[in-house]
Formats: sequence, C-alpha cells, structure tokens
Amino acid sequence: MSTGTVLRGDITTLEVDVIVNAANSGLLGGGGVDGAIHSAAGPELLAACREIGGCATGDGVITSGFRLPARHVIHAVGPIWRGGGHDEPELLASCYRRSLEIAVQHHCSSIAFPAISCGAYGYPIDAAARIAVREVGAFLDAYPGMAVSFVCFDSEVQSAYRALLG
Ligand code: APR
Repeated sequence: MSTGTVLRGDITTLEVDVIVNAANSGLLGGGGVDGAIHSAAGPELLAACREIGGCATGDGVITSGFRLPARHVIHAVGPIWRGGGHDEPELLASCYRRSLEIAVQHHCSSIAFPAISCGAYGYPIDAAARIAVREVGAFLDAYPGMAVSFVCFDSEVQSAYRALLG
C-alpha cells in the first residue's frame, strides 16, 4: 500500500501545489496552523475566505496561496472532539477525503496536511493519525501520482505518524 511522507516543521514553508489548513467553519482565521497560514499568505487570503463565506465541518474549500510558496490552500474544517460519539471519526476522515478530491480537481500533484483537529479542537492524536493514514493510503491506491506529506509541528504528532508509517 502507498503511504504519505512524514515531515517535521512548519507547513507554511513548503513549496507544494497545495497545503491544507485546519480551519474553522467561519473561515476567518484563528490560531494554530490557521493563524500561521494567514499571516504567511497575507491579507488577500482573508479576503478570499470572506468571499467564500464559510465551510461545513468535514468539508473543504480551496483558495490561492497568495504569498505562500504553496500555490493553493485547502481550508478543511475538522471536528471538535466531544468524546468520540458525535461523528468525529467520520467527519475527520471526510476532511482528508474531500481535501484530496479537491486537490485532484485542481490538478495538484503534491499536498501537505497538518494534523487536522489535533490542536485547539482536541482530537486524540493517535486516533487522528490512524484516520489520516488510512484515508491517504486508500486514496493513494487509486491516485499513486500524488505526493502526500503529513507535516508534524510537534514531537507528539511526529511520534504518532512514525509509529504508523515508520
Ligand atoms: N505547521 C504545521 N502544523 C502546525 C503549525 C504549522 N505552522 N502550527 C500548528 N500546527 C499543528 C498543531 O501543533 C496541531 O498538531 O497543527 C495541528 C492542528 O492544530 P490547530 O491549528 O489548533 O487546529 P485544530 O485542532 O484543527 O483547531 C482548529 O483552531 O485556530 C483555530 O481557526 C482554527 O478554530 C480553528 C481551530
């Protein structure tokens, strides 16, 4: 089975076709990776997000990357962890699937994901990493030409991915 690549660092520095943002449904920015992406992309990104108007949990929308080295940003909205009985696993899986679908529709051949929902939204990291790796693996079986990176900003996230992917 194909897998993604585990990288340690800041997703805003990557020269890939598309980086994924862990956004909220209002799309108007926030902290964490969302704040980092907006500050690196510049104010045009906020204007583009405002024009889109919002995004449902489990879905994603695409914008330009503006001042980022990445060409595009997919703003995916992960679930807030509420104990696991509120469709959180399915909604998180849907974020990965939708992001990959949108990337294909926009002719992207490289994509980098942060650990969606694993910061402010409180999703248990090991469980989230298993979902991410499963969804990306299933996608890569159908689209082996896509280069997929899992970007780990902290050591806990990196350990979770390394345990799954080596
Ligand atoms: N590059 C890569 N990963 C990063 C970066 C970065 N520059 N900054 C933070 N991260 C990591 C965090 O360490 C965490 O593992 O991204 C993961 C997701 O954390 P959050 O950014 O807090 O995202 P999430 O848990 O999905 O919460 C989304 O936070 O800031 C708000 O607007 C955002 O309301 C939304 C919520």
